[in-house]
Amino acid sequence: KKDILIMGMETSCDETAVSIIKNGTEILSNVVASQIESHKRFGGVVPEIASRHHVEQITLVMEEALKTAEVTYTDLDAIAVTEGPGLVGALLVGVNAAKAVSFAHGIPLVGVHHIAGHIYANQLVDNLEFPLLALVVSGGHTELVYMKEHGHFEVIGETRDDAAGEAYDKVARTLRLPYPGGPHIDRLAAEGEASIKLPRAWLEGSYDFSFSGLKSAVINTVHNAEQRGEVIKPEDLAASFQESVIDVLTTKTIQAVKEYKVKQVVLAGGVAANKGLRAALEEKFSRIKDVKLTIPPLSLCTDNAAMIGAAGTVFYKKGQRALLDLNGNPGLDI
Ligand code: KG4
Ligand code: ZN
Repeated sequence: KKDILIMGMETSCDETAVSIIKNGTEILSNVVASQIESHKRFGGVVPEIASRHHVEQITLVMEEALKTAEVTYTDLDAIAVTEGPGLVGALLVGVNAAKAVSFAHGIPLVGVHHIAGHIYANQLVDNLEFPLLALVVSGGHTELVYMKEHGHFEVIGETRDDAAGEAYDKVARTLRLPYPGGPHIDRLAAEGEASIKLPRAWLEGSYDFSFSGLKSAVINTVHNAEQRGEVIKPEDLAASFQESVIDVLTTKTIQAVKEYKVKQVVLAGGVAANKGLRAALEEKFSRIKDVKLTIPPLSLCTDNAAMIGAAGTVFYKKGQRALLDLNGNPGLDI
């Protein structure tokens, strides 16, 4: 049987990324042009700057991905591109580049949901076994997604306010750490002690999450200490904040694993790069029999196109095709 070669493309936020994937599991190339340096001084992603950078980078990144993989457009079975959710201007750059190449070379086009991509990053490191539960934690999303089979996604819980990554970035800002703050908090947390009492939003009877109360508690703790002239160790605050986030994420995941009787749990999204979260899940799941835990390497947790290629291959095999009226959809549902 012939191999399936797919080009994955991702431009939903601040990474211009293109990858060539073989049979949905093997990475032939994975090129990521990060714009973080350009957004840092604004303390977050500036949409207009993101779109402009994508326009400048996209064709170069596409060429590099092909060259590294030693393939040409005529070798490709399909082009898979993130159609949403994300920043509309940023999405449109990837979608239009994908449509142009699809039209010019007669290559089938597949639209991919960004979160489906994050989940399918796990297929690049492990076999997926269903039913499966994905804990998706990124800058824009915090979700528990139940999958009874390939390409089937049921959101059983989601954040009611801030996403986990958003909370990390805001807490980092309060501690005057650079953007994106997640990795800095992670590093500080490892050096501190979780000695400061912070809330946990359990939202009993639901798999939903809430992180805005926790975020406000951190901000208040810092302000109150400043007013009283007290010194709080930033590493202790980071450790306390991180412990609260991890406590809620892992507890709810384990509850859902039991209720839905899943065979596998996969971790997905930028916050999946968090060392504390990875360690806590590994420790907890080492004691749960018959449930396999999969955690992608750091480079496949943050935004990349290999994950879009992996998800795109599944949708392509299911016969899903996008036409040339494919549009960027900032609010796309999974
Ligand atoms: O998935 P992603 O690359 O982009 C979105 O789709 O949102 O996630 C980015 C988010 C940022 O909020 C960043 O601070 C967070 O992931 N992040 C982390 C870590 N590495 C990245 N959060 C906590 N610990 C980390 N090590
Ligand atoms: Zn993402």
